[in-house]
This record gives sequence, C-alpha cells and structure tokens, in this order.
Amino acid sequence: MSGDVRPMFDRDGKDSAPQAPAQQDPARGSVEVALHGEVAVLTLRREAKLNALSTHLEAALLDALRSQTVRGSRAVVVTGGSKVFSAGADVGELREMTPEAIAAYYRASGAVYEAIAALPQPTVAAIAGYCLGGGLELALAADLRVADPSAVLGLPEVGIGILPSSGGVTRMVRAVGPARTRDLVLRGRRMAVDEAHQWGLLTEIAPAGEHLETAVKIAAEIAAHPPLAVSITKQVITAATDAPREAALLLEQLAYTALNRTTS
Ligand code: COA
Repeated sequence: MSGDVRPMFDRDGKDSAPQAPAQQDPARGSVEVALHGEVAVLTLRREAKLNALSTHLEAALLDALRSQTVRGSRAVVVTGGSKVFSAGADVGELREMTPEAIAAYYRASGAVYEAIAALPQPTVAAIAGYCLGGGLELALAADLRVADPSAVLGLPEVGIGILPSSGGVTRMVRAVGPARTRDLVLRGRRMAVDEAHQWGLLTEIAPAGEHLETAVKIAAEIAAHPPLAVSITKQVITAATDAPREAALLLEQLAYTALNRTTS
C-alpha cells in the first residue's frame, strides 16, 4: 500500500521540521505519519520493544495527533505495523514511578488515550500480533478495530499486580459489558481474533497481512460522508453509551436539528 509519508515524531518532532527516518532512535521509538488519500495513518515504530508504550512513544503519538497532517485529515488509522500492535505500557518505566510521578503522567503523555478518543474524525485501529495492556487500551480508544488473524488481545495487568488504567476497564465495560470484562481482566487472559470478534471487540477480521489496507478502506468509506455529520454522530454515539437516556435522546434530536440544514 502506498502513501504520502510525512514526518516521524520522536517526541521533539514538529510538522514543519521533519526528521529523516535515519535520525530516529529505534530503541526510543517514534510515530510515523502518512497520508493515504484523506486518511492519516499513524504507525508506532518501536518494534524491537514490541511497540511498548513508553512515555516517549506516547508523547510522540500526542505530537502526531496535533500535527497538521492529522488535523487536516478526514479519518485516522492507528497501527503498529505488520508484526505487533503493542505489548502495552513500558513495564520497566512504570515500576520506577512514584505516586506523584504517576499523577503527573496522566496529565502529560498519559493523556494520549483520551486524545485519540476525543478526535473529531472517525478512528480505526489496525491490529496484528500482540495487542496487550496499554496496546489494547489504545485500540479501545479508537472507534473501530480491525485485526489480522495473528492478533492476540488481552489486559494482563493483574498478573503484575496493577490494573488497566488508561481507560481500559471503563471502555471495556462499555464495549463488552461487565461480565466479559471481569472474565478478561481478572483472569488476565489473552484472546484470539475469533473470540474478540464474537465479543464485538473487533469489528472485522482482515485476511492475513491485510489489516492496514482493510482499516484504511473502512476509514476512507466513513471519510467519504459529510464530515460534520460523521463527527457529530460519533459524539452522539459516545453520549448514548455514557449519558443518561433522556439526555442522549435529546442530544440526538438537537444534533439532527443542527445537521439538517448543513451542507458540508
Ligand atoms: N514493556 C517494555 N518492554 C517490553 C514490553 C513491555 N510491555 N513487552 C515486550 N518488551 C520488550 C522485551 O523486554 C524485549 O526486549 P529485549 O529484547 O531488549 O529484552 C522485547 O520487547 C521483546 O520481548 P520478548 O518478551 O522477548 O518477546 P516474546 O515474543 O518472548 O514475548 C510478550 C512477547 C508480549 C508475551 C512479552 O514480551 C510480554 O509478556 N510483555 C509484557 C506484556 C504486558 O504485561 N503488558 C502489559 C504491561 S502493563
């Protein structure tokens, strides 16, 4: 699949001052931004560490989200490439953090999960290989999830004495309900694509190696609709899962009233 590849964000990256890929430090990782038509594709690049989400990588992702390329796009796909989505938060880094540092973390790079969820454009996670812990939390922050058959999903945090805390529990309950969330999170078990699809966690299982292509196709299909209708409908769907029923119904009607005469 070809695309217009834009800057790699290694945290200090700016849209206007792209760094050549050769200058990136693979151990620290970076986020590549490419444009496929009107769809921005963000690729985590820290493969040697299975795209473990260090604060550096999360901050690079935040920078990428704020880039001109993403802001000017009509849809966003997040992927980890062809072998792994992400093996989760960087475990070494987490263990070193004091409670004060963790509180500061949620306000800094840890804000990236909500930032993905709050994007006005539709978002699709394109998953292959491990999608664990923070990796699954990142995927859950997207509107839709597409995986190839190699994907392995799970929230193993309980096994190392912590819990998913980047929206993972909250989003999982809304996605699959409390009973299935207990089964997955308390057992800390992994699941393959068939089960994840059956649960509704995955919207689609792509043929082997075609998760990105499939995700971009779905994103482009949504992006072809009037952008304001897509953006407002996305927010109404979020409200329908989170707001009281009466408020959500009223929001639907108000959104319709506002959209009915728009032309874009
Ligand atoms: N944080 C930091 N580094 C990680 C990581 C993580 N979450 N997951 C993998 N890595 C690193 C490994 O330390 C290793 O680095 P090294 O080559 O410098 O030693 C490299 O990525 C490859 O991982 P490895 O464990 O050798 O690969 P594997 O194929 O044998 O096992 C996993 C893959 C995903 C099963 C295993 O890496 C794992 O359990 N990771 C942690 C998953 C987790 O608990 N995530 C939730 C964190 S809250």
